Amino acid sequence: MTTTDITSLAQQHDLRATREYKNYIDGQWVSSSSGKTFEDRNPADQDDLIGTFQESSEDDLNAAVDAASRAYESWRLTPAPKRAEYLYKVGDILKRDKDKIAREMTREMGKVFDETKGDVQEAIDMAFLAAGEGRRLFGVTTPSELHNKFNMAVRVPLGVAGLITPWNFPIAIPAWKGMAALICGNTVVIKPASLTPLAVIMLAEAFEEAGLPKGVWNVVTGGGREIGEPMTKHSKIRVISFTGSTEVGRDISVACAPTFKHVHLEMGGKNVIMVMDDADVDLAVDGALWGAFGTTGQRCTAASRIVVHAKVYDQFVEKLAGRAKKLRVGNGLDPKIDMGPSVSASQRKTVESYVKIGKDEGATCVAGGNALTDGDHARGFFHEPTVFADVKRDMRIAQEEIFGPVTAVIKCDSLEDAISIGNGVKYGLSSSLYTRDVNKAFTAMRDMETGIFYVNAPTIGAEVHLPFGGVKETGNGHREAGVAGIDVFTEWKSIYVDYSGALQRAQIDTE
Ligand code: UN1
Repeated sequence: MTTTDITSLAQQHDLRATREYKNYIDGQWVSSSSGKTFEDRNPADQDDLIGTFQESSEDDLNAAVDAASRAYESWRLTPAPKRAEYLYKVGDILKRDKDKIAREMTREMGKVFDETKGDVQEAIDMAFLAAGEGRRLFGVTTPSELHNKFNMAVRVPLGVAGLITPWNFPIAIPAWKGMAALICGNTVVIKPASLTPLAVIMLAEAFEEAGLPKGVWNVVTGGGREIGEPMTKHSKIRVISFTGSTEVGRDISVACAPTFKHVHLEMGGKNVIMVMDDADVDLAVDGALWGAFGTTGQRCTAASRIVVHAKVYDQFVEKLAGRAKKLRVGNGLDPKIDMGPSVSASQRKTVESYVKIGKDEGATCVAGGNALTDGDHARGFFHEPTVFADVKRDMRIAQEEIFGPVTAVIKCDSLEDAISIGNGVKYGLSSSLYTRDVNKAFTAMRDMETGIFYVNAPTIGAEVHLPFGGVKETGNGHREAGVAGIDVFTEWKSIYVDYSGALQRAQIDTE
């Protein structure tokens, strides 16, 4: 595509003009106290400036946390079904603006328009799920061991929730975290990834239009060191929810320990698709292609390993490589394109470095392997979809998270072998098995050390009403989305009501 084509594509899609975006604090759009800003550019075309955003400092964060603390006092007392009404409205607004928001997100983050529409759809789904929870937020009632006594445990909010969100699902993940936090009665301060602040600004605009009381939802843009780190130490923030790398997650966990904050971490993955000799191989190839190259491989759930039974290995590799070579790489707003760019120069550099590592380790590159830098691709961070075959389970490309369009195909000779290879990494987010044998499916379902498991479907595609997260170095025992997300943003309060009119002593008055 030429520059003129892209410009007309932009006009045809009615994209926003470049402008300066502000922080959203206490219901106001405000500049950072330093007055500094940073630029956000399209990863498919570095000439396209999305906008400038506030380069905030700790002072701005403190202002947001103060606003959120003040708002908490009335928000926590607002009946949950009333809190839900704002979320229903936000869901409707996002539905109305789905295409508009998705176009901006493709421009900001790079993934193809169908996928950014899916990202917005996840936020819509989450809005309605969380809103419905406003009439549940179920607690527990139990009998008492004593006469005329009533026992129950109820969920209570924590206070101000600090959310540190990633660039790969720029609106879905802030929605998973923030909407769950709100319905439980917490107020929110969110620091979006610096590569995708606009998506979170657009979400804040939806909350503003829905009439959410001021201070309940605050957005502060800026760097991890300037905003993220002070969030972990701030005494008024009672829970941190973070999605990002295992290295940063570990630092956050340590930083939150002295103030005993609740911490929810959703970190790296090295997900695996296992293909048995009885599988529908074409279906497995379809799944592998989508799992490995959807979102340019930039999903925590991406299928970066594919373990294939020796009996179908050769045909699988040939088919997957053939299909990968045919994927069209380019600007995600162009409907003819299958895969967008990496999100940044450094992300593509990581991809290139792992391709070199794979070659040096002796794996065979059977598709792709190169950055795309000429012609239409010259102004973006494009890379060919890349398939490595003859990968050994301990190679670095089979062990380390790449977060790009690279997948490693490994040979196995049985289900047991596949499970052992599948589990032989430090992460545990998502895994999948292609088979027609129900016994194999249930065995893998039981034995895979991952928080998410699929049968005859790829490793990506989690739905919002089920818990999302992983084991080992992927998570710290929490889950988001589903009812599990409610657990992150509430504490239990156990309540005993004695209506006997006499002193009754638990464990002592046993008769
Ligand atoms: C992520 O990559 O962090 O299950 C989230 C999926 C998506 C969410 C991915 N629904 O692939």
